[in-house]
Amino acid sequence: MKKVIALGGSNSEKSINKILAVHAANMLEGIEVNVLDLNAYELPLYGIDIETRDGIPQNAHNLLNDIKESDGIVLSLAEHNGAYSTAFKNAFDWMSRIDNKLWSEKPMLLMATSPGARGGATVLEIAKGRFPFMGGNIVADLSFPLFFDNLKEGVVTDERLNKELKIVVGKLQKAL
Ligand SMILES: Cc1cc2nc3c(=O)[nH]c(=O)nc-3n(C[C@H](O)[C@H](O)[C@H](O)COP(=O)(O)O)c2cc1C
Repeated sequence: MKKVIALGGSNSEKSINKILAVHAANMLEGIEVNVLDLNAYELPLYGIDIETRDGIPQNAHNLLNDIKESDGIVLSLAEHNGAYSTAFKNAFDWMSRIDNKLWSEKPMLLMATSPGARGGATVLEIAKGRFPFMGGNIVADLSFPLFFDNLKEGVVTDERLNKELKIVVGKLQKAL
């Protein structure tokens, strides 16, 4: 059975992006879902000096291996001050030191959500611009606004948004 990883770009234990990524991944049919948590890959803050002194931490290799062993990726990015969360960017930077094409051309559904009306649209645009240079194969993307209004008890309450979610999940399903 093919398998996807579901990952929130956040180290929050209650990450709404992790919830959204898992929700979307579970909509795939006949696909095993491997839920990843950034907290399981604790990493020191990237710095050239620490890399030179100690090398690349095992957890960066572990996360990269989990990406490489998957058939596809469902990633939802948290937006902090219009950019990646520090925890995500840190893991991203460490992995890029092992393999600059870290996303490994795996079909990716890329999303972002926030409690606000813009739904992480700014960080989504940043990632859409950058990932293709780093092995990113984004087959669909979605900004999911007003998370707490639109996803309640595992149900997407807004009909239009649910339709959009089904469309982007369908695009990933096709690419797998
Ligand atoms: C330091 C900080 C900066 C934030 N900046 C933004 C922002 O620029 N845009 C936004 O929509 N939400 C912003 N938020 C709110 C986050 O979207 C919210 O905390 C969300 O829950 C983050 O996703 P997560 O639950 O997956 O970590 C910010 C939150 C923090 C803590």
